[in-house]
Amino acid sequence: MLTKEKLLDAVHHLQDPEFQLTLTELQLIRDIVIKEGLVSATVLLSNEDEGYRSDLQDQITNAFREAGAEEVHLRYRAMTEFDRNEAERKLQEKNTSAEVPTAPVRNLLDPEQGVHFIAIASGKGGVGKSTVTVNLAVALARLGKKVALIDADIYGFSVPDMMGIEERPQLIQNRIIPIERFGVKVISMGFFVEENTPVIWRGPMLGKMLRNFFSEVDWGDVEYVLLDLPPGTGDVALDVHQMIPQSKEIIVTTPHATAAFVAARAGAMAIHTNHEMLGIVENMSYYQCGHCGEKDYIFGRGGGGKLAEELHTDLLAQIPLGAPDNHIAEADYSPSVYKADSETGKIYLDLASQVLNKLS
Ligand SMILES: Nc1ncnc2c1ncn2[C@@H]1O[C@H](COP(=O)(O)OP(=O)(O)OP(=O)(O)O)[C@@H](O)[C@H]1O
Ligand SMILES: [Mg+2]
Repeated sequence: MLTKEKLLDAVHHLQDPEFQLTLTELQLIRDIVIKEGLVSATVLLSNEDEGYRSDLQDQITNAFREAGAEEVHLRYRAMTEFDRNEAERKLQEKNTSAEVPTAPVRNLLDPEQGVHFIAIASGKGGVGKSTVTVNLAVALARLGKKVALIDADIYGFSVPDMMGIEERPQLIQNRIIPIERFGVKVISMGFFVEENTPVIWRGPMLGKMLRNFFSEVDWGDVEYVLLDLPPGTGDVALDVHQMIPQSKEIIVTTPHATAAFVAARAGAMAIHTNHEMLGIVENMSYYQCGHCGEKDYIFGRGGGGKLAEELHTDLLAQIPLGAPDNHIAEADYSPSVYKADSETGKIYLDLASQVLNKLS
């Protein structure tokens, strides 16, 4: 049955641009009346921009329809002085209460918790680091493990898009609830950073936010935490290394000799900071012809193996070129997750079991 709670829940992700709280937190959607399939409501606007209003009209209407409304009628009015003061008060309240969480959560970083951290690094961008992180996380979950994924790549938060995550995490009793997809609990920096925040501000924010991720996110019962690091060996990657000294590392490279050479730097950093290396994943290793099955090594050959040798570790997997065979119409559509029974999906399952072996 359609209820007011369901409708409000359907729009819980919509944020007011001025007050940086959600419309529901600010109680900007009011007077909800449900009559048979018809829903009417009043929406309070914090600004007079016509584009904002029409965006909101679309978003609320669609969300209400998805929640089960047949017809939606929205009225609008500007926030009054009183409404604004109320919103201001809520914002302050939230900022102060955010500093004092209501109940202690378990701190994943506490070594006593026995949580395994796996950081996925690469020497340079675009080699498939995020794709590997996402698919390894999903494969571990498919093997029955309790998995979390932290998208710490401040230069390009791609994990939510790759996994087809559109919603934003909810805040319950001052705790951030991670989004669960394919059995993986996901938190992305991208959930909290405005899209147009300059990258130079993100570096310092990342360290602070990462710390918060461990203390303010309600991870529940998690055994493995995967981290998608920013590419390269910059300050941010170094920060993360220092913050999570117990994390083990996987390095992603392409088969090309120069790519492997650059990836060696990431490996050198791991060694320098005393992080144990789990191994190398070579991505985009070859293209396999769908008809004759022949492998074509279009980006060269041997980079992963050479890197593994150089870093005295193992080449854990060679992943072929090819996008997942997914379709928009599928309920759990996600652009970058390979199905468990596909060739690449099986390679990721094998990678996951090797990782489990190494960690046990
Ligand atoms: N094995 C593969 N076959 C085909 N396409 C791939 C493969 N692996 C990754 N890709 C694609 O290559 C692009 C880069 O991959 P991805 O975003 O995972 O790399 P990244 O190293 O995380 O990049 P960035 O440095 O931007 O974070 C993406 O469009 C991804 O879908
Ligand atoms: Mg990435």
